[in-house]
Amino acid sequence: MEDSTRLGSVSIAQQGAEKARWLTWIASEAEWEEAGEAFVQDLANEGGKPSSTANMVAAVRATELTRVSKDRICHDPLAACFVGLKLRLLTKSRLITRLVLRVVEAVAPGLTGYVAGRTRYLDEYLQGCAEAGFRQIVFLGAGYDSRAYRLDLASPGMKVFEVDSPATQREKLYRAKKAFGRLPREVVYVAVDFDRDRLDTRMFESGYDRDVKTLFVWEGVTYYITPKAVDNVLRFVSGDSGPGSTILFDYLYRSFLDGTCRLRDARRLRIAYRLIWTKLLRLEPFVFGIEPGELNEFMSVRGFTVNARINGDHRLPGGSRKGVCFFENVEAMVPGPYPMDRVVSDGR
Ligand SMILES: C[S@@+](CC[C@H](N)C(=O)[O-])C[C@H]1O[C@@H](n2cnc3c(N)ncnc32)[C@H](O)[C@@H]1O
Repeated sequence: MEDSTRLGSVSIAQQGAEKARWLTWIASEAEWEEAGEAFVQDLANEGGKPSSTANMVAAVRATELTRVSKDRICHDPLAACFVGLKLRLLTKSRLITRLVLRVVEAVAPGLTGYVAGRTRYLDEYLQGCAEAGFRQIVFLGAGYDSRAYRLDLASPGMKVFEVDSPATQREKLYRAKKAFGRLPREVVYVAVDFDRDRLDTRMFESGYDRDVKTLFVWEGVTYYITPKAVDNVLRFVSGDSGPGSTILFDYLYRSFLDGTCRLRDARRLRIAYRLIWTKLLRLEPFVFGIEPGELNEFMSVRGFTVNARINGDHRLPGGSRKGVCFFENVEAMVPGPYPMDRVVSDGR
């Protein structure tokens, strides 16, 4: 408790003086509220648009609850709190939701199943993480992930961090406050642009401990960021976390990006992606992919051992739903410090 008081006052002091980019434990509710307001204001001044795809995946999770139980893949009762107004209407009426989901399934087969499936996989993984010896959880590109609030992850032995671009984090905090009536105190919020900022500096400033076993969750992010940003994140994780630390992430096959993918539904999803995703809805584009045959080498060069790979169409609970077979979920471990100068930052 003494420690959090100290960290809290450091945070408040620095926010006034030099625009801190994190919000961490504060001793009293009033101080926390004050620091939270200042932090959100500070992020707002920076401008930028919150992620539209983060909103979209939160909406997909919210619509899961409108499905009959045999078709439901994940269970995120807080998802709807984080969905923007327009999309939230979708979850208000079962009839409208069902209609929209049918259309989505017809034009982008498996997409909602894939998003819900990875959420389920990660939820299950996270529930056992304290027993597995993890002492910190870092959500990278957290978006409107609600796990920190619904899975009761934070405890005296576990620190939880949410890292995201300033604009999305600002919107997340705004929506969280609206939903809960206060900013949740169990999380350390760190505003970072993976392209522009030093993740290590921000994390150390915010109280992150590089020596303990840490679980990193990087869900639905890699395909939206540049090869340089991917390397920045992996460099930090492999170089600045304790032995046994693990990163869970998903990636997209590069062949989908360059149009050479011949796997099931790739053609149809590519049309939907080009006409609806980027043109009509103006969602963030996909910019990064890896070929599955190159994944193990890609990770090994960056200091990781790949423990598990789960295809995006694999074993979806619910039976009648399918996923997307050119995404993959990966579990990769950090065996120890690794010289990142061997990495060629070309995205392969
Ligand atoms: C599709 S959302 C996924 C959000 C969340 N992980 C989930 O699954 O619900 C992509 C996330 O990546 C974040 N992101 C994209 N580019 C980023 C960057 N350059 N630096 C930091 N975060 C970034 C967005 O702000 C957004 O929260």
